[in-house]
Amino acid sequence: MILVQITDTHIDEPGTLVYGHFDTARALEDAVAAINAMDPGPGLVLHTGDIASHGSVARYQAFKAIAGELTAPMVLIPGNHDDRDALRQVFGGTPWLPTDGEYLQYVIEDHAVRIICCDSVIAGDTPGELCAERLAWLDARLGEAADRPTIVALHHPPFCSGMTGSSAKGLRQGGLELDALLRRHPQVVRVLAGHVHRPITAAFGGTIAFAGPTTCYPFGLDTGPERLLNVTHEPPAVAVHLWLEDAAPAGADLVTHILPIGEWAPPMTLLKAGVKVLAG
Ligand SMILES: [Fe+2]
Ligand SMILES: [Fe+2]
Repeated sequence: MILVQITDTHIDEPGTLVYGHFDTARALEDAVAAINAMDPGPGLVLHTGDIASHGSVARYQAFKAIAGELTAPMVLIPGNHDDRDALRQVFGGTPWLPTDGEYLQYVIEDHAVRIICCDSVIAGDTPGELCAERLAWLDARLGEAADRPTIVALHHPPFCSGMTGSSAKGLRQGGLELDALLRRHPQVVRVLAGHVHRPITAAFGGTIAFAGPTTCYPFGLDTGPERLLNVTHEPPAVAVHLWLEDAAPAGADLVTHILPIGEWAPPMTLLKAGVKVLAG
């Protein structure tokens, strides 16, 4: 199974540059082209939130027009920049998006790894939380299939990133409870998040938590006392999660790669099927 994680696309109205500089629609088009060029391609694309720069029906329709070119199916969860009602208007009728209840949370069952998609948004605020209701929902979903490897996805990383200029200090509420909850469900092979606009890995809840890279404007690795939040011009990227059924010596395992998006010289083949093609 190949799962591509795309996050923080921050789509604006067509023709608008975010911060007057970033063509996030073009960046999404480039990401879609790179994902479609993968061979073999993914079985699923998971968007971990901040789909739009500010949630609106027009922006989600613009996103849908571009992301609709993906050859693989895509599911998404909201981030702090998103709007649940507008998302429901544009993505309503899809088999995965719940039509009732306050939160956009659901389970993807039809892949080798079960994916539980959580909603960590506090409407109108930047930090995230998992309240008692959402924690109970997650606990119940994990309890349904203790024997199946599972990914838990939410927009806000539950761990502290160490980036002093950003809001990446974990969940405002529910982080300790989530850590304890995950430790009761050892089938969780990964926690996947977005929000911090650069790839970060940390231990959390007895498993591995990972925040994916953005397709639009990466934040810099600023950890100093000035508490800067810088947008860098590092290449955008997506994450590629490979479920390997025979990953000796551990057996089945989830392995995560970063796939930068951009234009480079064509690859040089050194080996093909174990045979040297190019002498060193
Ligand atoms: Fe974001
Ligand atoms: Fe965010």
